[in-house]
Amino acid sequence: MSKLTIKALYKFKQRGEKICMITAYDYPTARIVDKAGIEIILVGDSVGTNVLGYRSEKEVTLSDILHHTKAVVRGTERAFVIADMPFMSYHTDAATAIQNAGRLLQEAKADAIKCECRGKLFENVKAIIEAGIPTMGHIGLTPQTSFDMTSKGRTLSEALDIIKMAQKLEEIGAFALLLEKVPLRLADLIMDMVHIPVIGIGASPLCDGQVLVIHDILNLSAIQFKHAKVYRDIEKEITCATQAYIQEVKAQHFPDDENCFSMSDEVFNEVKSQLQATHHSKQ
Ligand code: KIV
Repeated sequence: MSKLTIKALYKFKQRGEKICMITAYDYPTARIVDKAGIEIILVGDSVGTNVLGYRSEKEVTLSDILHHTKAVVRGTERAFVIADMPFMSYHTDAATAIQNAGRLLQEAKADAIKCECRGKLFENVKAIIEAGIPTMGHIGLTPQTSFDMTSKGRTLSEALDIIKMAQKLEEIGAFALLLEKVPLRLADLIMDMVHIPVIGIGASPLCDGQVLVIHDILNLSAIQFKHAKVYRDIEKEITCATQAYIQEVKAQHFPDDENCFSMSDEVFNEVKSQLQATHHSKQ
């Protein structure tokens, strides 16, 4: 199975085949979604709330993303792996932004990084791209710097800001855009204006691809979002499996013969006789 590249992702867009992207955070999940045929795995900062028990993505650190990206990369053969730049890892100055983005590629072996782009952050994102680091620009709702999680771009000024940011990101060489929670009509307008792949979440079916978080499609998130869809109820499966295990242990049905290991009569009898001999010699 050969590894997907940016060039291969562009070919999906050219032939009108939708790109399927998923947020995942660990080795076994990466292995499963990769084998299932996903094209891009994002190690998102949603790892904070979905896996680490943080109250918000703002608590996620660069070492959290490094740690989880390494695990995802180890589980991936074909999918293109994108690591999320966490809050404050590219917010101060360009040199720090480049250094942190570079660590995700060099240490964790991510194929690219993703940055939320809003306002002054643009200059640091530009510096990262100019340093030669493949970057996906995240626009629309940008959770790291938003005060609420409502959809963005419903007012004239917000819509124009998002369009402008999409164009500027394409101009400076972002290889793709992630468009989160914007009105469908605005997403379609942006799709008509840019040439790089646009991956939507709560955006439009016309986007070049879609992204959802694995915890959301498996019903493992604390919240059910309008933009997401539950494809399997894994919370229910885990609950059933755990309860069945508890019941069998309490009833002494687990472990049974199949789960236990054998020992020859010869060795066992010898162990017993040696124990008896030690016991007698102590008396
Ligand atoms: O962190 C994340 O999972 C994201 C989503 C928008 C896909 O950024």
